[in-house]
Amino acid sequence: MNFPSINPTETNAWKALKDHFESIKAEKMKDWFAKDPQRAEEFSIAWKDVYVDYSKNRITAETKQLLLNLADEVKLKDAIEAQFSGEKINQTEDREVLHTALRDAKTKVSVNGESISKDVQDNLDHMQSFSKSIINGDWKGHTGKPITDVVNIGIGGSDLGPQMVVDALQFYKNHLNVHFVSNVDGDHISETLKHLNPETTLFVIVSKTFTTQETLTNANTARRWFLKNAEESAIAKHFVAVSTNATAIKDFGISEKNSFTMWNWVGGRFSLWSSVGLSISLAVGFNNFKQLLDGAKDMDSHFRNTEFSENIPVITALLTVWYNNFYGAESEAIIPYSQYLQKLAPYLQQGIMESNGKGIDRNGKQIDYETGTIIWGEPGTNSQHAFFQLIHQGTKLIPSDFIGFKTSLHGNTEHHDKLMANYFAQTEALLQGKDETTVVSELKNKGLSESEIKALTPFKIFEGNRPTTSILIDKLTPKSLGSLIAMYEHKLFVQGVIWNIFSYDQWGVELGKQLANTILEDLKADGLKHTHDASTSKLLKRYKS
Ligand code: F6P
Repeated sequence: MNFPSINPTETNAWKALKDHFESIKAEKMKDWFAKDPQRAEEFSIAWKDVYVDYSKNRITAETKQLLLNLADEVKLKDAIEAQFSGEKINQTEDREVLHTALRDAKTKVSVNGESISKDVQDNLDHMQSFSKSIINGDWKGHTGKPITDVVNIGIGGSDLGPQMVVDALQFYKNHLNVHFVSNVDGDHISETLKHLNPETTLFVIVSKTFTTQETLTNANTARRWFLKNAEESAIAKHFVAVSTNATAIKDFGISEKNSFTMWNWVGGRFSLWSSVGLSISLAVGFNNFKQLLDGAKDMDSHFRNTEFSENIPVITALLTVWYNNFYGAESEAIIPYSQYLQKLAPYLQQGIMESNGKGIDRNGKQIDYETGTIIWGEPGTNSQHAFFQLIHQGTKLIPSDFIGFKTSLHGNTEHHDKLMANYFAQTEALLQGKDETTVVSELKNKGLSESEIKALTPFKIFEGNRPTTSILIDKLTPKSLGSLIAMYEHKLFVQGVIWNIFSYDQWGVELGKQLANTILEDLKADGLKHTHDASTSKLLKRYKS
């Protein structure tokens, strides 16, 4: 049973939402708060150590009900079940989508009639024993020295997830220095290698396909650098690989015992839970990696089993649909009030935009409504001093997620209270704004003249009514991070179901890759072997001259 393909704009709920939008679009959230003392209670979800307050959004009880009706009409429940039970919902690649099974080694799911739980467990066991031997120094480099530095070479899903998590969990890190090289720009690997000692460095080559130009180029450069002072046989002590492509790993010269499995039923951007997360397990130890999986597993169970009206990924996804398709909001900001989460937005950019940046529906037809939103963000409070002006007073509506933690990991309450005061203040300011009366009275108190007040007032008015969702978590731990990431994974899937698109393929990135190979031939040839548009030809000639 796969789930049906339904054009959301033809549902009764969509039509009702359009009328409803017209009737409430001019209303102010602060008036709703004034009228309804229960509003914060009504529009919030407390789940384990996570509290999601979505009351500062431009919705009423009727909006919520209509959005829930929309979820029912597009058969969201069936879609969720289809994903969790291992149906081939990634139809254009003829694949199951089972990153959720990686978080549950006791999974009952089968692929091609075979249970996958043993594979999942064996892989975890391999990661555990390997990480342990590297961390405790049992694993020695070819000259007998323990490993001090790990270099993860991968790109996209084989880089962003592990990199974001290793950065986010720095507080839990051991002595190993973990580096990430992704860009084919040679400066990236050169800058990394120049500080490293080949005798104590381990390279983890991560590529689901093991065909990605950037990763193979960087892996070969690392190999050449390493072999400057070592025999070919020493590779076994310094290179391991993660891939679905066992043959390519072997051809690269990495033995089977140094290979970690990946499966086609795990998409690249959802793969940090698999052995793609090996650098996480090396950086923070396998037990912490397991906690990360457990946190995600808890969120899976919340998503699968909770009524939609209390379901965090469902509600937050419906809010995105509301702003994207009715308010015409083009982007969403993700603002973590934690420096540890500085790489969350870039990570989610791939997750969300590679998944939902689609213009063809599940019937193969061109879509005439908006789909994937633009995702961006930076940690607060830095972002307040950078782009918040535009969120407060710009002409665009930018719904924003504010992610904060009750506890500071280093226990510095003075800093943490200041940080969190800003977290709360920003959402309050975005809600309330500042009206003319307040502006005028403030300027009067400062002793400005009538004419000065008149001239300055329009610039100082904040209209407010800008939507935010506050996600307040007790503490940044491997477990809570796992839940948070899984929340966004499920959220993007819900959006994709509503927009009637396939969220789990990424054909749009292929054309550029093909053309880059063609152009590379031109860069190496005398003159240009291939025809290009006039602009590209001129640029190529200038580059080569
Ligand atoms: O950019 C497209 C993409 O296929 C991503 O989806 C993927 O995460 C990345 O390339 C890397 O692919 P691989 O892990 O196969 O090297």
